[in-house]
Amino acid sequence: MALIRTQVGIIGAGPAGLTLAHLLHLQGIESFVLERHTRDYVETRVRAGVLEQGTVDILCGSGVGQRLQREGLQHKGVELRFDGRGHRIDFQDLVEKSITVYAQQEVVKDLIAARIAYNAPILFEAEAIRIQDFEAQPRIRYQHQGTTHEIACDFIAGCDGFHGICRPAFPADQLSTHERHYPFAWLGILARVAPASHELIYTYHEHGFSLLSMRSPEISRLYLQCAPDEDINNWSDDRIWDELRTRMATRDGFVLQDGPILQKGITPMRSFVAEPMRFDKLILLGDAAHIVPPTGAKGLNLAVADVRVLTRCLVGIYKENKRNALEQYSARCLRRVWLAQRFSGWMTSMLHRFPNEDSFAHQLHLAELDYVTSSRAASTTLAENYVGLPFDTPGLF
Ligand code: FAD
Ligand code: DHB
Repeated sequence: MALIRTQVGIIGAGPAGLTLAHLLHLQGIESFVLERHTRDYVETRVRAGVLEQGTVDILCGSGVGQRLQREGLQHKGVELRFDGRGHRIDFQDLVEKSITVYAQQEVVKDLIAARIAYNAPILFEAEAIRIQDFEAQPRIRYQHQGTTHEIACDFIAGCDGFHGICRPAFPADQLSTHERHYPFAWLGILARVAPASHELIYTYHEHGFSLLSMRSPEISRLYLQCAPDEDINNWSDDRIWDELRTRMATRDGFVLQDGPILQKGITPMRSFVAEPMRFDKLILLGDAAHIVPPTGAKGLNLAVADVRVLTRCLVGIYKENKRNALEQYSARCLRRVWLAQRFSGWMTSMLHRFPNEDSFAHQLHLAELDYVTSSRAASTTLAENYVGLPFDTPGLF
């Protein structure tokens, strides 16, 4: 069995693994990235689309932001729509920040291109099958092209998503999990039609939540709340457009043009946190450690925030001789994770219909939205969380 030696063995080439590999490379720290899917698969998988300003700053500041700056759509506000009326939350005015709409798979493409350009190791169709010895000399066993190989490393970065092998490798008595399931899911489409608004629209309606987003001036991304066990085959293209129009209708005649649907899928919704995020030299990042419901657009951004913390810890260890630098990793990440859970859970409850809601519950949704859109204090709370809480508030993060 071939044995490879590296400093950080990274499992998973999603946003967490690729960003970590890139930031470590810039610091002169070696890593080896394993990804079980093909390069094409990870580069075309349709997922998140909203980047916080802090995420954009990290990507641009580390030299992989050229296309993001050229093609990303900078948004200075967002619309909340309910009771047939739209209300803008003005990020620029409230918190002097913005967000950027740039698809997750484009971030992934940019990071893979950079890694290949500087000739650093990344293997596709390489599945980690076993990890061991993370209290001494960690090892990752993986399969590639029908052969088994092994990596010996100083640390294993578990960037292998929610269904990966790293979190289950924690000793059972060393891990607590906190979980919440929601009684609904999102049906998402990508359509070849100009977005009906230049900013995102989050809508609350008696039929349920809907969201208008975009990927480019020609491509719209839209979501509908649906049942958790919904069969996508029950949703013809016409039914999807009709339902989107019903939920997004305004008193002043909002027009939602339809267009060819290029892709559709159903995303289940859950909240999940694993604590702690490190067991000795095995470290979890991103979805491997936590899942947020998508309403706050935080999943990808939290993954990048974990990477930022871990990079600082590893620089402490390798370059500043701070042997205990990893001790604060989990607590630092989890503070941001729980704040994101709070925000995402709040946005989700405010904007979705729960089963069997009565007229009282409906009026409470409307009152909450009325308050959020009419009180400057409440709008500011939404804005500062949506654009991303600061990394460098004293004592925070
Ligand atoms: P992932 O992107 O999941 O990457 C993990 C990688 O590890 C994968 O490429 C996987 O193939 C690889 N891997 C797993 N096991 C192994 C193994 N044994 N060996 C080698 N490789 C392995 N967030 C939002 O904010 N808005 C959204 O609209 C949104 N939509 C989503 C839709 C879906 C279907 C999903 C699943 C997630 C969505 N998210 C969304 C969440 C967001 O995409 C994630 O938070 C983000 O991808 C986290 O990045 P990650 O790198 O931690 O994990
Ligand atoms: C998108 C996804 C989200 O979860 C969200 O809150 C906003 C936008 C998107 O895919 O564009």
